[in-house]
Amino acid sequence: MTPIYQTSTYVQAAPGDHKGYAYARTKNPTRTALEANLAALENGKFGICFASGMAAMDAIMKTLKPGNEILSTNDLYGGSYRLITKIYEPFGLKGKFVDMHNADNIERHINKNTKLIWLETPTNPMLNIVDIKKICRIAKKKKVMVCVDNTFASPYLQNPLDLGADMVLHSATKYIGGHSDVILGAVVVKTKKLADQLHFIQNSTGAIPGPQDCFLTLRGIKTLHVRVEQACRNAKRIAKYLSKHPKVSKVYYPGLKDHPNHDIATTQMRNYGAMVSFDFENDDFKVATKVLKNTKLFALAESLGGVESLIGHPASMTHASIPKKERMKVGLTDSLIRLSIGIEDVDDLIEDLEQAFENI
Ligand SMILES: Cc1ncc(COP(=O)(O)O)c(C=O)c1O
Repeated sequence: MTPIYQTSTYVQAAPGDHKGYAYARTKNPTRTALEANLAALENGKFGICFASGMAAMDAIMKTLKPGNEILSTNDLYGGSYRLITKIYEPFGLKGKFVDMHNADNIERHINKNTKLIWLETPTNPMLNIVDIKKICRIAKKKKVMVCVDNTFASPYLQNPLDLGADMVLHSATKYIGGHSDVILGAVVVKTKKLADQLHFIQNSTGAIPGPQDCFLTLRGIKTLHVRVEQACRNAKRIAKYLSKHPKVSKVYYPGLKDHPNHDIATTQMRNYGAMVSFDFENDDFKVATKVLKNTKLFALAESLGGVESLIGHPASMTHASIPKKERMKVGLTDSLIRLSIGIEDVDDLIEDLEQAFENI
Protein backbone atom coordinates (compact mmCIF):
# COMPACT_ATOMS: atom_id res chain seq x y z
CA MET A 1 0.00 0.00 0.00
CA THR A 2 1.14 3.54 -0.70
CA PRO A 3 2.46 4.88 2.61
CA ILE A 4 0.89 7.98 4.14
CA TYR A 5 3.84 10.39 4.19
CA GLN A 6 2.68 12.40 7.19
CA THR A 7 5.47 14.91 6.85
CA SER A 8 5.77 18.59 6.08
CA THR A 9 9.45 18.64 5.17
CA TYR A 10 12.29 16.39 3.97
CA VAL A 11 15.95 16.25 5.02
CA GLN A 12 18.40 17.51 2.40
CA ALA A 13 21.98 16.25 1.99
CA ALA A 14 23.18 19.73 0.96
CA PRO A 15 21.28 22.89 0.00
CA GLY A 16 19.04 21.93 -2.94
CA ASP A 17 20.35 18.34 -2.91
CA HIS A 18 17.25 16.24 -2.12
CA LYS A 19 15.37 13.24 -3.48
CA GLY A 20 12.73 15.24 -5.36
CA TYR A 21 10.89 16.38 -2.25
CA ALA A 22 11.83 19.54 -0.34
CA TYR A 23 8.62 20.80 1.28
CA ALA A 24 5.19 19.15 1.33
CA ARG A 25 3.13 22.06 0.00
CA THR A 26 5.15 21.67 -3.20
CA LYS A 27 5.20 17.85 -3.32
CA ASN A 28 4.33 14.90 -1.13
CA PRO A 29 4.93 11.27 -2.20
CA THR A 30 1.39 10.11 -1.30
CA ARG A 31 -0.02 12.99 -3.35
CA THR A 32 2.39 12.22 -6.21
CA ALA A 33 1.06 8.63 -6.34
CA LEU A 34 -2.54 9.89 -6.48
CA GLU A 35 -1.74 12.51 -9.13
CA ALA A 36 -0.12 9.86 -11.36
CA ASN A 37 -3.07 7.53 -10.79
CA LEU A 38 -5.66 10.16 -11.76
CA ALA A 39 -3.67 11.19 -14.84
CA ALA A 40 -3.68 7.55 -15.97
CA LEU A 41 -7.42 7.14 -15.32
CA GLU A 42 -8.24 10.17 -17.47
CA ASN A 43 -5.74 9.28 -20.24
CA GLY A 44 -3.89 12.50 -19.44
CA LYS A 45 -0.23 13.15 -18.70
CA PHE A 46 -0.40 15.21 -15.49
CA GLY A 47 -2.69 15.18 -12.48
CA ILE A 48 -2.73 18.08 -10.03
CA CYS A 49 -4.60 17.54 -6.76
CA PHE A 50 -6.29 20.10 -4.54
CA ALA A 51 -8.00 20.32 -1.17
CA SER A 52 -11.46 20.11 -2.79
CA GLY A 53 -13.19 20.19 -6.15
CA MET A 54 -13.79 23.91 -5.64
CA ALA A 55 -10.09 24.52 -4.89
CA ALA A 56 -9.27 22.72 -8.15
CA MET A 57 -11.69 24.96 -10.05
CA ASP A 58 -10.30 28.00 -8.25
CA ALA A 59 -6.81 27.15 -9.53
CA ILE A 60 -8.13 26.98 -13.10
CA MET A 61 -9.81 30.39 -12.68
CA LYS A 62 -6.42 31.79 -11.62
CA THR A 63 -4.98 30.95 -15.06
CA LEU A 64 -7.31 33.65 -16.49
CA LYS A 65 -6.89 37.43 -16.58
CA PRO A 66 -9.26 40.33 -15.87
CA GLY A 67 -11.47 40.92 -18.91
CA ASN A 68 -11.52 37.21 -19.88
CA GLU A 69 -14.90 35.50 -20.31
CA ILE A 70 -15.94 32.03 -19.28
CA LEU A 71 -18.71 30.45 -21.31
CA SER A 72 -20.59 27.84 -19.35
CA THR A 73 -23.75 25.77 -19.13
CA ASN A 74 -26.81 27.39 -17.58
CA ASP A 75 -27.47 24.52 -15.19
CA LEU A 76 -24.09 24.38 -13.58
CA TYR A 77 -23.33 23.07 -10.07
CA GLY A 78 -24.29 25.91 -7.67
CA GLY A 79 -20.81 26.16 -6.14
CA SER A 80 -19.17 26.53 -9.57
CA TYR A 81 -21.68 29.25 -10.50
CA ARG A 82 -20.97 30.98 -7.18
CA LEU A 83 -17.19 30.85 -7.69
CA ILE A 84 -17.43 32.49 -11.10
CA THR A 85 -20.07 35.10 -10.26
CA LYS A 86 -19.36 35.96 -6.62
CA ILE A 87 -15.60 35.47 -6.30
CA TYR A 88 -14.14 36.09 -9.76
CA GLU A 89 -16.51 38.60 -11.35
CA PRO A 90 -15.41 41.27 -8.81
CA PHE A 91 -11.83 40.60 -10.02
CA GLY A 92 -12.83 41.30 -13.63
CA LEU A 93 -13.66 37.87 -15.07
CA LYS A 94 -17.07 37.45 -16.66
CA GLY A 95 -19.31 34.40 -16.71
CA LYS A 96 -21.83 33.75 -19.48
CA PHE A 97 -24.27 30.90 -18.84
CA VAL A 98 -26.04 29.46 -21.84
CA ASP A 99 -28.06 26.44 -22.92
CA MET A 100 -25.64 23.90 -24.38
CA HIS A 101 -28.23 21.25 -25.27
CA ASN A 102 -27.50 21.92 -28.88
CA ALA A 103 -23.76 22.40 -29.33
CA ASP A 104 -24.29 24.32 -32.57
CA ASN A 105 -25.82 27.13 -30.52
CA ILE A 106 -22.68 28.00 -28.63
CA GLU A 107 -20.53 29.50 -31.41
CA ARG A 108 -22.50 32.76 -31.41
CA HIS A 109 -21.73 33.23 -27.70
CA ILE A 110 -17.96 33.13 -28.23
CA ASN A 111 -16.31 36.52 -28.59
CA LYS A 112 -12.75 37.84 -28.54
CA ASN A 113 -12.70 37.82 -24.72
CA THR A 114 -13.85 34.20 -24.35
CA LYS A 115 -10.90 32.21 -23.03
CA LEU A 116 -12.51 29.20 -21.40
CA ILE A 117 -15.53 26.99 -22.01
CA TRP A 118 -16.61 25.30 -18.79
CA LEU A 119 -18.69 22.18 -19.30
CA GLU A 120 -20.47 19.85 -16.99
CA THR A 121 -21.94 16.68 -18.46
CA PRO A 122 -24.10 15.09 -17.17
CA THR A 123 -25.12 18.34 -15.51
CA ASN A 124 -25.97 18.75 -11.86
CA PRO A 125 -28.90 18.28 -11.13
CA MET A 126 -30.83 18.30 -14.44
CA LEU A 127 -28.73 15.48 -15.97
CA ASN A 128 -28.46 17.27 -19.29
CA ILE A 129 -25.90 15.93 -21.72
CA VAL A 130 -23.53 18.23 -23.58
CA ASP A 131 -21.76 17.07 -26.74
CA ILE A 132 -18.11 17.30 -25.64
CA LYS A 133 -16.56 16.44 -29.01
CA LYS A 134 -18.61 18.98 -30.94
CA ILE A 135 -17.97 21.78 -28.45
CA CYS A 136 -14.24 21.03 -28.39
CA ARG A 137 -14.16 21.20 -32.18
CA ILE A 138 -15.80 24.66 -32.12
CA ALA A 139 -13.50 25.79 -29.28
CA LYS A 140 -10.35 24.69 -31.15
CA LYS A 141 -11.43 26.68 -34.19
CA LYS A 142 -11.88 29.74 -31.96
CA LYS A 143 -8.70 29.06 -29.91
CA VAL A 144 -10.65 28.76 -26.66
CA MET A 145 -9.73 26.24 -23.93
CA VAL A 146 -12.26 23.66 -22.74
CA CYS A 147 -12.49 22.23 -19.24
CA VAL A 148 -14.97 19.45 -18.49
CA ASP A 149 -16.17 18.87 -14.94
CA ASN A 150 -16.34 15.08 -15.12
CA THR A 151 -17.52 14.58 -11.54
CA PHE A 152 -20.94 13.11 -12.37
CA ALA A 153 -19.62 10.57 -14.88
CA SER A 154 -16.31 9.61 -13.22
CA PRO A 155 -13.34 8.52 -15.36
CA TYR A 156 -14.83 5.03 -15.51
CA LEU A 157 -17.68 6.26 -17.72
CA GLN A 158 -16.25 9.20 -19.66
CA ASN A 159 -12.82 10.55 -20.65
CA PRO A 160 -13.15 14.14 -21.91
CA LEU A 161 -9.45 14.50 -22.87
CA ASP A 162 -9.99 11.76 -25.49
CA LEU A 163 -12.87 13.83 -26.88
CA GLY A 164 -10.72 16.95 -27.32
CA ALA A 165 -10.93 18.74 -23.95
CA ASP A 166 -7.84 20.55 -22.59
CA MET A 167 -8.61 19.97 -18.91
CA VAL A 168 -10.71 17.62 -16.81
CA LEU A 169 -11.85 18.56 -13.35
CA HIS A 170 -12.99 16.17 -10.63
CA SER A 171 -14.57 16.58 -7.29
CA ALA A 172 -12.89 13.34 -6.15
CA THR A 173 -15.09 13.74 -3.07
CA LYS A 174 -17.72 11.91 -5.14
CA TYR A 175 -17.30 8.71 -7.22
CA ILE A 176 -13.51 8.66 -7.18
CA GLY A 177 -13.29 8.64 -3.38
CA GLY A 178 -16.59 6.78 -3.30
CA HIS A 179 -17.13 6.40 0.45
CA SER A 180 -18.26 9.86 1.61
CA ASP A 181 -15.20 10.16 3.85
CA VAL A 182 -12.92 12.60 2.03
CA ILE A 183 -13.02 16.00 0.32
CA LEU A 184 -10.55 16.28 -2.55
CA GLY A 185 -10.28 17.78 -6.03
CA ALA A 186 -8.16 17.24 -9.11
CA VAL A 187 -7.37 18.60 -12.54
CA VAL A 188 -5.93 16.37 -15.26
CA VAL A 189 -4.24 17.82 -18.35
CA LYS A 190 -2.23 16.61 -21.35
CA THR A 191 0.28 19.40 -21.88
CA LYS A 192 3.31 20.30 -19.77
CA LYS A 193 2.54 23.98 -20.29
CA LEU A 194 -0.82 23.72 -18.52
CA ALA A 195 0.57 21.36 -15.88
CA ASP A 196 3.40 23.80 -15.06
CA GLN A 197 0.92 26.64 -14.73
CA LEU A 198 -1.35 24.64 -12.42
CA HIS A 199 1.55 23.28 -10.33
CA PHE A 200 2.78 26.84 -9.91
CA ILE A 201 -0.67 27.93 -8.67
CA GLN A 202 -0.96 24.82 -6.47
CA ASN A 203 2.35 25.59 -4.80
CA SER A 204 1.88 29.36 -4.63
CA THR A 205 -1.62 29.38 -3.19
CA GLY A 206 -1.33 26.15 -1.21
CA ALA A 207 -4.82 24.61 -1.45
CA ILE A 208 -3.36 21.09 -1.31
CA PRO A 209 -4.92 17.88 0.05
CA GLY A 210 -3.29 16.21 3.04
CA PRO A 211 -1.55 12.81 2.70
CA GLN A 212 -4.27 10.94 4.62
CA ASP A 213 -6.90 12.21 2.20
CA CYS A 214 -4.73 11.24 -0.78
CA PHE A 215 -4.39 7.75 0.70
CA LEU A 216 -8.17 7.41 1.19
CA THR A 217 -8.77 8.56 -2.37
CA LEU A 218 -6.25 6.04 -3.73
CA ARG A 219 -8.01 3.32 -1.76
CA GLY A 220 -11.39 4.41 -3.14
CA ILE A 221 -10.08 4.25 -6.71
CA LYS A 222 -9.27 0.55 -6.35
CA THR A 223 -13.01 -0.23 -6.49
CA LEU A 224 -14.17 2.60 -8.78
CA HIS A 225 -15.11 0.26 -11.64
CA VAL A 226 -17.01 -2.21 -9.43
CA ARG A 227 -18.90 0.53 -7.57
CA VAL A 228 -19.86 2.57 -10.62
CA GLU A 229 -20.92 -0.54 -12.55
CA GLN A 230 -23.30 -1.63 -9.77
CA ALA A 231 -24.57 1.92 -9.13
CA CYS A 232 -25.39 2.37 -12.86
CA ARG A 233 -27.27 -0.95 -12.89
CA ASN A 234 -29.31 0.17 -9.87
CA ALA A 235 -29.93 3.64 -11.35
CA LYS A 236 -31.29 2.20 -14.59
CA ARG A 237 -33.85 0.13 -12.64
CA ILE A 238 -34.83 3.07 -10.43
CA ALA A 239 -35.19 5.49 -13.37
CA LYS A 240 -37.53 3.00 -15.07
CA TYR A 241 -39.51 2.51 -11.84
CA LEU A 242 -39.90 6.29 -11.38
CA SER A 243 -40.88 6.92 -14.99
CA LYS A 244 -43.83 4.52 -14.57
CA HIS A 245 -44.89 5.92 -11.18
CA PRO A 246 -48.26 7.76 -11.34
CA LYS A 247 -47.23 10.34 -8.71
CA VAL A 248 -44.01 11.33 -10.53
CA SER A 249 -44.37 13.86 -13.34
CA LYS A 250 -40.85 13.91 -14.78
CA VAL A 251 -37.70 11.79 -14.63
CA TYR A 252 -34.30 13.09 -15.69
CA TYR A 253 -31.87 10.29 -16.54
CA PRO A 254 -29.65 10.12 -19.66
CA GLY A 255 -30.19 6.37 -19.92
CA LEU A 256 -33.90 6.77 -20.72
CA LYS A 257 -34.62 6.66 -24.45
CA ASP A 258 -36.76 9.82 -24.26
CA HIS A 259 -33.91 11.88 -22.72
CA PRO A 260 -33.26 14.66 -25.29
CA ASN A 261 -29.55 13.83 -25.67
CA HIS A 262 -29.72 10.07 -25.02
CA ASP A 263 -27.88 9.38 -28.30
CA ILE A 264 -25.00 11.70 -27.40
CA ALA A 265 -24.74 10.08 -23.96
CA THR A 266 -24.56 6.68 -25.69
CA THR A 267 -21.67 7.87 -27.86
CA GLN A 268 -19.54 9.68 -25.29
CA MET A 269 -20.24 7.62 -22.14
CA ARG A 270 -19.76 3.91 -21.41
CA ASN A 271 -22.89 3.83 -19.26
CA TYR A 272 -25.39 6.45 -18.12
CA GLY A 273 -24.29 7.16 -14.57
CA ALA A 274 -26.03 6.73 -11.25
CA MET A 275 -27.64 10.13 -10.71
CA VAL A 276 -31.40 10.39 -11.25
CA SER A 277 -33.56 13.48 -10.73
CA PHE A 278 -37.35 13.55 -10.70
CA ASP A 279 -40.19 15.99 -10.16
CA PHE A 280 -43.85 16.30 -9.20
CA GLU A 281 -46.68 18.31 -10.77
CA ASN A 282 -47.12 22.01 -9.93
CA ASP A 283 -43.71 22.71 -8.34
CA ASP A 284 -45.18 21.32 -5.10
CA PHE A 285 -42.55 21.85 -2.39
CA LYS A 286 -44.74 20.22 0.31
CA VAL A 287 -44.99 16.95 -1.60
CA ALA A 288 -41.24 16.92 -2.19
CA THR A 289 -40.57 17.63 1.50
CA LYS A 290 -42.70 14.66 2.56
CA VAL A 291 -40.73 12.31 0.31
CA LEU A 292 -37.41 13.79 1.47
CA LYS A 293 -38.41 13.17 5.10
CA ASN A 294 -39.96 9.74 4.52
CA THR A 295 -37.11 7.74 3.02
CA LYS A 296 -35.24 5.40 5.36
CA LEU A 297 -32.47 3.91 3.21
CA PHE A 298 -31.91 7.01 1.08
CA ALA A 299 -30.23 9.42 3.50
CA LEU A 300 -31.11 13.10 3.14
CA ALA A 301 -27.72 14.71 2.62
CA GLU A 302 -25.62 16.86 0.31
CA SER A 303 -23.06 15.19 -1.98
CA LEU A 304 -23.17 12.14 -4.22
CA GLY A 305 -21.14 9.27 -5.59
CA GLY A 306 -20.73 7.25 -2.39
CA VAL A 307 -21.59 3.58 -1.95
CA GLU A 308 -24.68 4.52 0.05
CA SER A 309 -27.71 6.10 -1.65
CA LEU A 310 -28.53 9.73 -0.94
CA ILE A 311 -31.59 11.84 -1.57
CA GLY A 312 -31.29 15.61 -1.96
CA HIS A 313 -33.23 18.78 -2.61
CA PRO A 314 -31.12 20.87 -5.04
CA ALA A 315 -33.19 24.09 -4.64
CA SER A 316 -32.37 24.38 -0.93
CA MET A 317 -29.12 22.40 -0.78
CA THR A 318 -26.57 22.11 -3.61
CA HIS A 319 -28.08 24.90 -5.76
CA ALA A 320 -29.27 27.34 -3.09
CA SER A 321 -26.69 29.88 -4.34
CA ILE A 322 -28.47 30.17 -7.72
CA PRO A 323 -31.32 32.72 -7.82
CA LYS A 324 -34.78 31.11 -8.18
CA LYS A 325 -35.43 32.97 -11.46
CA GLU A 326 -32.27 31.42 -12.97
CA ARG A 327 -33.07 27.96 -11.55
CA MET A 328 -36.61 27.92 -12.93
CA LYS A 329 -35.34 28.65 -16.46
CA VAL A 330 -33.71 25.22 -16.56
CA GLY A 331 -36.47 23.33 -14.76
CA LEU A 332 -34.82 23.34 -11.34
CA THR A 333 -38.09 23.70 -9.43
CA ASP A 334 -38.70 23.71 -5.67
CA SER A 335 -40.06 20.18 -5.94
CA LEU A 336 -37.16 18.64 -7.87
CA ILE A 337 -35.52 15.72 -6.03
CA ARG A 338 -32.07 14.36 -6.85
CA LEU A 339 -30.99 10.81 -6.08
CA SER A 340 -27.45 9.55 -5.88
CA ILE A 341 -27.88 5.83 -6.31
CA GLY A 342 -25.50 3.65 -4.34
CA ILE A 343 -24.63 -0.01 -4.55
CA GLU A 344 -27.24 -1.45 -2.17
CA ASP A 345 -29.78 -4.10 -3.16
CA VAL A 346 -31.93 -2.33 -5.75
CA ASP A 347 -35.17 -3.97 -4.58
CA ASP A 348 -34.61 -2.51 -1.10
CA LEU A 349 -34.08 0.93 -2.65
CA ILE A 350 -37.28 0.72 -4.72
CA GLU A 351 -39.22 -0.48 -1.66
CA ASP A 352 -37.90 2.54 0.26
CA LEU A 353 -39.11 4.96 -2.43
CA GLU A 354 -42.45 3.16 -2.64
CA GLN A 355 -43.12 3.60 1.08
CA ALA A 356 -41.96 7.26 0.91
CA PHE A 357 -44.51 7.94 -1.86
CA GLU A 358 -47.39 6.29 0.04
CA ASN A 359 -49.03 9.25 1.78
CA ILE A 360 -48.10 12.17 -0.40
C1 LIG B 1 -20.34 18.73 -10.39
C2 LIG B 1 -19.57 19.21 -9.20
N1 LIG B 1 -18.42 19.88 -9.38
C3 LIG B 1 -17.69 20.34 -8.34
C4 LIG B 1 -18.10 20.15 -7.04
C5 LIG B 1 -17.27 20.70 -5.89
O1 LIG B 1 -16.53 19.70 -5.28
P1 LIG B 1 -16.06 19.73 -3.73
O2 LIG B 1 -17.31 19.60 -2.92
O3 LIG B 1 -15.14 18.56 -3.65
O4 LIG B 1 -15.39 21.03 -3.52
C6 LIG B 1 -19.28 19.46 -6.81
C7 LIG B 1 -19.75 19.27 -5.41
O5 LIG B 1 -20.87 18.91 -5.15
C8 LIG B 1 -20.04 18.98 -7.90
O6 LIG B 1 -21.20 18.33 -7.72
